[in-house]
Amino acid sequence: MRIVSPRFPPSLPVSAHGAPVAGSEVKRSFAKRAMSEGNGPTGARSGSRLGGFCHRAASLGARGGCAPWEPSERRHPPRLRALGFQTFNARHLPSPPLGRIAGMTTIYQLPTPALLLDIDRLDANLSQMADKAHRLEVALRPHIKTHKCLEVARRQVELGCRGLTVSTLHEARVFSSHGFNDLTWAFPVILNRIEEARTIAQRCTLRLVVDSPTAIDALEASRHPFHVWLKVDCGYHRAGVDPTSAEASDLARRLADSPTLVFDGLLTHSGQAYRAAGPEELRQIAEHERRVMVELARRLRAEGLAVPALSVGSTPALAAAESLAGVDEIRPGNYAFFDLTQSLLGACQPGDCAVSVWSSVVSRPAGAATCVLDAGALALSKDSGPSHLTLPVFGRLFEDYSAGELSPDAAVEAISQEHGILSQPRPVGTRVRLLPTHSCLTVAHYDEYWVVQGEEVVDRWKIWRGR
Ligand SMILES: Cc1ncc(COP(=O)(O)O)c(C=O)c1O
Repeated sequence: MRIVSPRFPPSLPVSAHGAPVAGSEVKRSFAKRAMSEGNGPTGARSGSRLGGFCHRAASLGARGGCAPWEPSERRHPPRLRALGFQTFNARHLPSPPLGRIAGMTTIYQLPTPALLLDIDRLDANLSQMADKAHRLEVALRPHIKTHKCLEVARRQVELGCRGLTVSTLHEARVFSSHGFNDLTWAFPVILNRIEEARTIAQRCTLRLVVDSPTAIDALEASRHPFHVWLKVDCGYHRAGVDPTSAEASDLARRLADSPTLVFDGLLTHSGQAYRAAGPEELRQIAEHERRVMVELARRLRAEGLAVPALSVGSTPALAAAESLAGVDEIRPGNYAFFDLTQSLLGACQPGDCAVSVWSSVVSRPAGAATCVLDAGALALSKDSGPSHLTLPVFGRLFEDYSAGELSPDAAVEAISQEHGILSQPRPVGTRVRLLPTHSCLTVAHYDEYWVVQGEEVVDRWKIWRGR
């Protein structure tokens, strides 16, 4: 089977000012923890060389040579700050529960299938989006449904994000109980879970999303001063009010005039970007999304309504966006990891993808032109990619991982629950590194990441999945 190879544009530029440096307080607390756990700044190793952020943080903190904490002043538009959006202060967050790795140092010693998280690629992706948000003068509220991981969210906070986006109340519960105090549940509110939402909203600012009068009635009946976004359909046609409709005005007015609720503004998600043919169409979708929102806000403001903020975004549209004038915040999620789908869309290159599945050949039937992997639907997910761009595949094989090169013709072409069929024969016992088609869905099948730097395993982070 021959797989269509996409043409990749260059990845997002890294800004001239570089990634922001974490605050001295943060570094000191990491350093203190690292020292107390026997991982001093000189790298005294107790099963885990602290890679990525933690190692750097430990060394810098211990030397006392940190750049000062850069407050949100520089990163966040005054408009949002004036509205009372809370700024995370990483100093108040509890220490991450770092899992120690006992006696395992390279990926060749891991049981397969294993979910690998490349900390250097992750950090580059997080930094690039933070830089882009800064350059385009919008706040960044990352969607954590992609990673569901406290350590990754903490790094996003260090890089200056303003609050987080979650897709489930489980995520809201977990992240709020670990100190993240400003969350948008970017899903049409589930009426039978408003009491649960209320409990969570006692300990953090929980922002909800509605697109119906019934949901507004139910929230008002709860008597809790929930923050509420009005969901707008900017062309995805999944949920949200038609931006040209009278309903959009009516619901916005109800929220703005509500004696109970706090109107946060208009929120949309350009999921139609996943149907784009390439970067030029992505750019057009991003611009359309921006224009729809700015025009609706202008209309509502002309009708006398205060529209506090506009929130937009999807990873592929934001990868291509050139202007976000009039927009206040963006909510990308997948950008943390990227995946095969994003590379096919032209939002990244395979070498930017931070999550891969480490798998073994378990069977090679005699005479077959294929072999069987231990990575099936529960290790990769059943997402077979954007059908307008590629043949259905559940993952592609890295030919040369460090160079970011995919094999031109080896892919997981069929799956059952635990079996994956690789489109090339390989000897039993061979290990392969697979690029998943949709990293968000892949990650949701695992309990933990093996955090790696090159082929070395440097840590183990929990994936907080649940409903
Ligand atoms: C409402 C909403 N906002 C933001 C996102 C983030 O999109 P992406 O993962 O493409 O960045 C999603 C993803 O499904 C979403 O549903």
